[in-house]
Amino acid sequence: MRMAARLYSIGFLGSGKMATAMARGLISAGLVRPEDITASATSDTSLNLQRMKGHGVRVTSDNSEVVRRSSVVWIATKPHTVAPVLREISPVVRRDQLFVSVAAGTTLNSLAKNLPEGTKVVRCMPNTPVVVRSGVTVYSRNGTVNGEDKELVEHMLGSVGLGMEMPEHYMDIITGLTGCGPSYMYVMLDALADGGVYAGIPKEIGLRLIAHTMIGAAKMVLENGKHPQELKDDVCSPAGTSIQAIRTLEKAGFRGIVMDAVHAASKRALELSRLDNGETKDVYVKR
Ligand SMILES: NC(=O)c1ccc[n+]([C@@H]2O[C@H](COP(=O)([O-])OP(=O)(O)OC[C@H]3O[C@@H](n4cnc5c(N)ncnc54)[C@H](OP(=O)(O)O)[C@@H]3O)[C@@H](O)[C@H]2O)c1
Repeated sequence: MRMAARLYSIGFLGSGKMATAMARGLISAGLVRPEDITASATSDTSLNLQRMKGHGVRVTSDNSEVVRRSSVVWIATKPHTVAPVLREISPVVRRDQLFVSVAAGTTLNSLAKNLPEGTKVVRCMPNTPVVVRSGVTVYSRNGTVNGEDKELVEHMLGSVGLGMEMPEHYMDIITGLTGCGPSYMYVMLDALADGGVYAGIPKEIGLRLIAHTMIGAAKMVLENGKHPQELKDDVCSPAGTSIQAIRTLEKAGFRGIVMDAVHAASKRALELSRLDNGETKDVYVKR
């Protein structure tokens, strides 16, 4: 209750896909009322801004207004516009405010560098299912973010899915794993439904059935504590149908391909963060 009372004003710098997903998630979780959110974009005519407005959110093309009105400010522009936007709003930043960035590859150091000294900054990597309150968001915080702020961050992230703190050096890998993760699931889902079409099941029926199959399989992992390998073995009966399919996947190198995909995305995240920050850092991503 005390926490919800603190969340009376939320700002979004940028009103694109991620800001809208997060705003919708926070609203549907009942954590904040639409009228207590202020969001900005490049101009009043931005389609993104109009979409935000459609959700009952207060909108503006003035980034400073977002900051003046908010206790928590989400930084949700594309990474290359983060620094100029932060420099622009810097004069109106207050010490009690919390800044939460979703910008991929933009480090805590680089965020802090463009804000007044001592500003509380959190860097996070969400994924789009936050819109249906089933997102995964990993976050890191700078030294000025205290325990109470951490509680607040976890409350916000927890209301839109799973929120987990991790050391910042994992962030590029997290980007390739869970930030991009939904796209891998969608490709898999579409491919499975196409498999159904190929065999004679209408696509829309296949998509629905497979989406529920994915939810069910994920719940089996999360709720009954068995390893996926064991669950797979449970489905595969000797000389049965599932093992025929698994053999086909394994022969095509399915696992290796998936592992390479995560590695490619993580490597790209590392490249982007180096570009953005003009700094080199330890290589946490295997080359
Ligand atoms: N999409 C994802 O799945 C995902 C996942 C994790 C993290 N992220 C991160 O989320 C951030 C936003 O990504 P997105 O996909 O939501 O991008 P997007 O849909 O392109 O939205 C970007 C928003 O920023 C606004 N903007 C640009 N310059 C601005 C400025 N100077 N002042 C105020 N607003 C400005 C744009 O305004 P207009 O509406 O006027 O163009 C737009 O509303 C990125 O940093 C990305 O790395 C995205």
